[in-house]
Amino acid sequence: MPLDIIIGAQWGDEGKGRITDLLASQASIVARYSGGDNAGHTVTVKGKIFKLHLIPSGIIHQDALCLIGDGVVINPTTLLREMDELAQRGIDVSPNQLQISRGAHLITPAHIALDKAAEARRGHGAIGTTLRGIGPAYTDKAARSGLRAGLLADPEGLADALSQHVAAKNEILTRIYGAEPLDATAVAAQYAQFGQRLRPYLVDGHVVVHQALADGRAVLAEGAQGTFLDLNHGTYPFVTSSHPTAGGALVGLGVGPKQARRVIGVAKAFTSRVGGGPFPCELAGETAARLRGTGENPWDEYGTTTGRPRRVGWLDLVMLRHAVAINSLTELVLTKLDILSGLKELPLCVAYELDGKRIAHFPTDPNLLARCQPIYEKLPGWEYDITQARAMAELPPTARRYIDFVIEMLDIPISVVSVGPGREQTIFM
Ligand code: GDP
Ligand code: IMO
Ligand code: MG
Repeated sequence: MPLDIIIGAQWGDEGKGRITDLLASQASIVARYSGGDNAGHTVTVKGKIFKLHLIPSGIIHQDALCLIGDGVVINPTTLLREMDELAQRGIDVSPNQLQISRGAHLITPAHIALDKAAEARRGHGAIGTTLRGIGPAYTDKAARSGLRAGLLADPEGLADALSQHVAAKNEILTRIYGAEPLDATAVAAQYAQFGQRLRPYLVDGHVVVHQALADGRAVLAEGAQGTFLDLNHGTYPFVTSSHPTAGGALVGLGVGPKQARRVIGVAKAFTSRVGGGPFPCELAGETAARLRGTGENPWDEYGTTTGRPRRVGWLDLVMLRHAVAINSLTELVLTKLDILSGLKELPLCVAYELDGKRIAHFPTDPNLLARCQPIYEKLPGWEYDITQARAMAELPPTARRYIDFVIEMLDIPISVVSVGPGREQTIFM
């Protein structure tokens, strides 16, 4: 009864989408378990680029059923746009291939307006959210005033719930933020149309997952965001409002820990972060520009969802050790090794110095973390292009040394290394 979970081991954008695509061919179900369209997952197949926000990255393979699980928050506008774009490119997004759990929550224009108003009010302390309404939607969920996807099949219930929802949010928008109110009738009309289109997709997600597991069929859980954006275990308050960690996969899909077989942490060969918050290994200047790229290549470090330049730094093994522990990772996947080609020296952060003391653990308190200075060990780089390598033996010895060093320091295996965005640009270890 194998459940394999793909987790972002850093601050998101590690390459979870491309790894999900890679492993999807072995799965019967690929399920997103948390987050919403704040996620941007890029899959590159035969030079064609697919950017997914809500639909699991398994959709490209078309071998597995893709499920949007209970832990997800859905903006129906984004979902339908994504479905239409995929359909235009010949990908089947009918209910045979895609299903939505009734327990997932809906994002509304009021959530988006509140996200924008709250970020503007935070001023210099802004989180740097994706402005997709994620925080307000999860806030409503926790306050037990959210709208669940199941309502899409109940036109009257949906209209009532939306009318109350928009009225309540309009009070906050106008009285607290001095923002414009939303037109409740227009929102209700729009969501009634969404209901008509999405109704055939609704299922009880946990039932679909349990049936697969009972039949011995493999379920692949696709994470969004990353461990350090987790509401409990990330760099709070500079986090998202859900649980991208392995625990989030279990509650997001409705399965217990005994079901998990592999917990696969995806990490970039360096570190990136979009949005605010402390980042001990952050680089500035020429090296940062080198790691980030200019934006000319599709894989350069600019947000898939917002287009913002990502902050970048060297690989932080203190963070990764924390991610191994928080998620009980069974293995790591290391992506974007090719980006390090041509750099003479590769520093890896092995510990922090905090107030004059060496520490090996990751403090999640942002005030402590902001005072942490990275302690680096430097490994030699490699000169030549590695994007054609398909086996460890085809990598230069210094690249192999880099991989081995990570394995030694984290004490878990690396199962896959990727050397380019393409599906075939992978080395199975
Ligand atoms: P996700 O959010 O974790 O799915 O990651 P994103 O898709 O947001 O960001 C990862 C980016 O790196 C995408 O543009 C991928 O196509 C690209 N990518 C993934 N793996 C590799 C790799 O090994 N090498 C290079 N050059 N690009 C990669
Ligand atoms: P994927 O799945 C990187 C960040 C935002 C912001 C913080 C809160 O592509 O890895 P939110 O809109 O969630 O309230 O924003 O979280 N963030 C991400 N950063 N990759 C993501 O997703 C992210 N999703 C949210 O930039 O700092
Ligand atoms: Mg992304």
